[in-house]
Amino acid sequence: MKFFIDTANLDQIREAQDLGVLDGVTTNPSLMAKEGITGEANILKHYVDICNIVTGDVSAEVIATDYAGIVSEGERLAKLHPQIVVKVPMIKDGIKAIRYFSNKGIKTNCTLVFSAGQALLAAKAGATYVSPFLGRLDDINYDGVELISQIVHIYRMYDYPTQVLAASIRNPLHIVRCAEAGADVATCPLNAILDLLKHPLTDIGLAKFLADAKKFQTESVK
Ligand code: E4P
Repeated sequence: MKFFIDTANLDQIREAQDLGVLDGVTTNPSLMAKEGITGEANILKHYVDICNIVTGDVSAEVIATDYAGIVSEGERLAKLHPQIVVKVPMIKDGIKAIRYFSNKGIKTNCTLVFSAGQALLAAKAGATYVSPFLGRLDDINYDGVELISQIVHIYRMYDYPTQVLAASIRNPLHIVRCAEAGADVATCPLNAILDLLKHPLTDIGLAKFLADAKKFQTESVK
């Protein structure tokens, strides 16, 4: 399973890249706003800055919601850098635009997906990635990971090449459960990735090893 980081924060992207486990980045308008990135020129520059930190795909979301607007905005984004993936919302004009981009060889990420039916449409339109939002489903008492499993099952049955990108991940257990469900990618906040490192028995075990090693070093000096 690929690991993407779900942020527009350059320091966090650098930290995940330095860890050596990062395969790409996803952003959305809320994440850009959180970093205070506003105005078209700044937004476009920020996407290029992100592409220059990582080697994998970087999702940049369109704001337009009509077909012509999505197409022209998406083409402008795709020209920015070869790593850019055009992120398009799951709406009727979005599906039409994904088909257009797919025919032109432009990579897409169909976002705001909350059902298997929506994921089926995204695959039919030729999306490179489909982004089911599992955390937001969990928030309203639906099983988000169950949706990931359902989409993976359907895509495998029909050999759809669209990759399942589990989004809206909140914690390390979500990441593990997405891996078990067969997601192709999990896009995660940095803290959820770093929380995968944690286990109290690792800390206890390491403290004991270091204490024993220190004893051994002291005895050798004698
Ligand atoms: C990423 O592609 C999504 O936009 C993001 O994961 C949504 O996460 P949230 O539900 O925490 O806002």
